[in-house]
Parts: sequence; C-alpha cells; structure tokens
Amino acid sequence: MSLTDRCNLRCTYCMPEEGLAWLPREEQLTDDELGRLIRIGVTMLGITEVRFTGGEPLLRRGLTGIVRAAAELSPRPRLMLTTNGIGLERTAGSLREAGLDRINVSLDTLDSERFQALTRRDRLDDVLRGLAAAAAAGLTPVKINTVLMRGINEDEAPELLRFALAHGYQLRFIEQMPLDAQHQWDRHTMVTAEEILASLAPFGLQPDSVSRGTAPAETWLVPGFVDAGGEPARVGVIGSVTRPFCGDCDRTRLTADGQIRNCLFATEESDLRKLVRTGAPDEEIAEAWQIAMRGKRAGHGIDDPSFLQPARPMSAIGG
Ligand code: GTP
Ligand code: 5AD
Ligand code: SF4
Repeated sequence: MSLTDRCNLRCTYCMPEEGLAWLPREEQLTDDELGRLIRIGVTMLGITEVRFTGGEPLLRRGLTGIVRAAAELSPRPRLMLTTNGIGLERTAGSLREAGLDRINVSLDTLDSERFQALTRRDRLDDVLRGLAAAAAAGLTPVKINTVLMRGINEDEAPELLRFALAHGYQLRFIEQMPLDAQHQWDRHTMVTAEEILASLAPFGLQPDSVSRGTAPAETWLVPGFVDAGGEPARVGVIGSVTRPFCGDCDRTRLTADGQIRNCLFATEESDLRKLVRTGAPDEEIAEAWQIAMRGKRAGHGIDDPSFLQPARPMSAIGG
C-alpha cells in the first residue's frame, strides 16, 4: 500500500531534484477509504501481510491510525513498513505500539558525502538514528534495502554488510530497475547480483536452507554471525533484473490514489477509488480487485525488445 507519492529525499535513481507533480490531496485515498480497502483485502481476499510504502510513508499524517485499524482486523495481518528512515527516530515507538511488526529501511551508503550526492539531502545521521530506534522499539528483524550504483557506491557492499552484521540488521541489495521518473535506467551500468555476490566473497557466504518462497530476496548465510534475535545472520540479493522472480510473486499493489497494480511493471491499473467513491458494495470491490490480479502477466519483460517502462515511477507505486 503506497500511502503517499511524496518524499523528503531525492534519490538520483528515483526522481529529479525538483521532485515530481505530487498527487492532489483529493485524489489520494482518505484514511477511512484506505482502511476499508485493507479490510476487504484481508477479510475477503485472504491477504495476510500488508506493507506500507510511499514515496515516504512516514510523511502520511494518519499513518499510526492506519496501522492501528489494520492491526484490529481479524484475522490480523502482519504489518510492515518500507521507509527511508527520516523521522523514524520519533515514530518507531508509536508505530510499534499501534501494531506494526517490522520495518525495512532504505540506505545506500554510510558515507555522508555520498549520501548527500545520492539523495541530494544531508540526512545520513537521521537515517542511522531511525534504524537504531526501530531496533530498540522491537520492529525486528530490521532490514536494510540498498541499491548500488556504478561509480558511486558500488564499492561499498562489504562495508555495508559489516555495518549490518555489527548491528544485527539484515542487509539486502536490490538491482536497480527501470522505474525512475527520469527514464535514465541503463542495463549496462546496473550493478548486477553476480557482481554484488562477487564483492562479498571474503565473507564466505553459504547457501541458505530456508527457501525464499514468494519473497523477492534470495538469501545467504554469513558464517560466524548471528542477527539481533540470535538467528544465523543472512544477507539478501534482490535480483529483479538478472534473476527475476515474477513467477513466484504474490503481491498486489495499491497506489495512494486507489489504483490496483498487479505488478511493478504493469501498464494497466484498476480503479478501486472510483468504486469506493461511487458507493460500490464490498463484494463488488473485492471482485474488481481479483479480476485485476488475474490479468497479471507471466513476467516483467524487461528483456523484451518491446519493453516499455511504465508511466508511473517507483515513488508513486511503492517500493
Ligand atoms: P520482507 O523481506 O518481507 O521484508 O519484504 P520485501 O523484501 O518484499 O520488502 P520490500 O518491500 O522492502 O522490498 C524490497 C525491494 O524488493 C523493493 O524495494 C523492490 O525494489 C523489490 N521488490 C519488491 N517487490 C517486487 C516485485 O514485485 N517485483 C520486483 N521486480 N521487485 C520487487
Ligand atoms: N530500482 C530498484 N530499487 C529502487 N528503489 C527505488 N527506486 C528503485 C529502482 N529504480 C528502492 C529504494 C528503496 C526501495 C523502496 O526501493 O532504494 O530501498
Ligand atoms: Fe524517496 Fe525512496 Fe525515491 Fe529515495 S528512492 S527519493 S527515499 S521514494
């Protein structure tokens, strides 16, 4: 669930310096509309996990209430949040108290000058404090999502892993995908899963016996380390481009303006907001949602010569 398309960072691989044309408030689902759709998804369609994303979801004013309403559903879904970590220091405790189970924080570098170059904001310390607050609040295991960029932070994988191991966070590297607002993604400059794993060779990673199931991350065990919960430490690679996992993906995506996308790379959307605002009953909304998911294609098609990047950028879909 994308709670807003706005963000307080400007990651160069995501959006331009000046930001984007944000959704007008009236096009955004209200907290009640969103709560209703979550209820329909959980109680009528069998959704068991709800991940709140953005843009930056901590910018959504009603976030705590949205989480609390979702936590009161029966059966209770697992509730997760993907955030850039800014402001998390202040909100981690109340989010936990409202019922949030886990947090994933985006962090691409531990060097404050690089952070500033990558995100166009000088906020590394806020993110590090946010991570610590999430762990202290029990939003564990805390996971870190990292995108490596050629010539910018591609050499930082070992250092990021040492940092994550030292703090008990689970680090995952994500291959950059053609979802940037500027349409500048280039397959030939993307840092691949294979390269990332090669740079982690000194850690002697071992295959993980736990199967990945429907999750995007392939994980490896890091011998000699445990995570904050005493489990063997793991590192993940999300090889969206070179090791696609579309066949196993079971996600449904709801944008902040109430559109269902059956894939990050979908070219069509289904308008649930319209149904919600024209008085459609729950059954009709549930059925429209299911029909939207049946149209899911077999794969993202990035390798097809005819591939076209979706018009909606990552920041308006949810990571
Ligand atoms: P947990 O492991 O349960 O915490 O969830 P997660 O790995 O799904 O979390 P998160 O939403 O943080 O996803 C991490 C990244 O995986 C996203 O930011 C995307 O870059 C990528 N990803 C997630 N879903 C998809 C998907 O459906 N397709 C592709 N290609 N990439 C995805
Ligand atoms: N490709 C891969 N990951 C991306 N993210 C944002 N844009 C892209 C992209 N084009 C990541 C962010 C964050 C997560 C939500 O998605 O870095 O970790
Ligand atoms: Fe914001 Fe995430 Fe995009 Fe960075 S990648 S600008 S944190 S939405």
